[in-house]
Amino acid sequence: MSTLSNRPRRSVLYMPGSNARVLEKAKSLNADSLILDLEDAVAPEKKSEARDLVCRAVKGGGYGHRELILRINGLDTPWGEEDLAAAMAAQPNAILVPKIFNPADVMRIAETINAGGVPLTTELWIMMETPLAMLNAGAIAEIAKDPDARLSCMVMGTNDLAKDTKAALTAGRAPMVPWLMTCIAAARAFGLNIIDGVYNDFADLQGFADECRQGREMGMDGKTLIHPKQIDPCNEAFSPNHEQVSMARKIMAAFELPENVGKGAIQLEGKMVERLHCDMAAQLVAVAEAIEARDA
Ligand code: COA
Ligand code: MG
Repeated sequence: MSTLSNRPRRSVLYMPGSNARVLEKAKSLNADSLILDLEDAVAPEKKSEARDLVCRAVKGGGYGHRELILRINGLDTPWGEEDLAAAMAAQPNAILVPKIFNPADVMRIAETINAGGVPLTTELWIMMETPLAMLNAGAIAEIAKDPDARLSCMVMGTNDLAKDTKAALTAGRAPMVPWLMTCIAAARAFGLNIIDGVYNDFADLQGFADECRQGREMGMDGKTLIHPKQIDPCNEAFSPNHEQVSMARKIMAAFELPENVGKGAIQLEGKMVERLHCDMAAQLVAVAEAIEARDA
């Protein structure tokens, strides 16, 4: 099973690979991760130009702490094979593959990447966005037990999922919640990160904030974004706040007290706290420290 790093993946910004200006602009944006897209955000006639631009951007660097993810076209499209070969040569932090249906799809791509001798520092991310992937979520995530799969992250593709299932994208996302939670369970079962889908109405910051909170409460690690305006509110929503960190430290300190050493459950500020809460507290503090280190 892959080990989940505490690397912050709160804000994951998509950008069209065909747009040189945004690729440059992204070097100064406060996102944790950048998805340089060759797929949905790029028109068919711009595909090869975008491939060159994106690969040059990855090789050129200058993105600091920002993790670079290159999203290729599906291997069943006219551009997929060339995209994958170019991505393998550029060696971004991750290659993101769209339209996954089953575990074999993931393994096939991993095998190609491995056969090309690409260093393990290039991870494999997958889009969860087809009806079949929802039905196969557990088996797809289980691929991560094999370190050769280099699978580290699932990204919810809610626009494609809405298109293919005919489920509406409503405020509160009631029609999507069962699939989002299924994918979260699959990701957690096999130690993967999972990033929520995009919020299309980027002028509506209140609706966006509500959806960030929902994603956080469901257990998402972060959210994919489409516009720079969404970065700061997203980082805030997916960072442990000051009160949560200070409570976590209190819980950890309480279990260290000599009188609590042999106990499984204790009382703290009128509430029951168990050792599992101590583990959760340690995890939360580790995440907060990783964010602090990123910002330093
Ligand atoms: N990444 C980086 N920079 C971005 C950006 C993005 N996704 N979206 C916009 N910007 C930049 C613009 O270039 C502009 O910068 P500038 O003023 O220095 O030129 C600034 O942010 C403001 O942009 P704005 O004028 O408000 O947006 P727009 O009308 O130019 O573009 C979209 C709107 C939706 C077309 C654009 O945000 C976009 O392409 N988003 C990503 C879409 C995508 O990748 N989809 C695929 C996955 S769902
Ligand atoms: Mg898509």
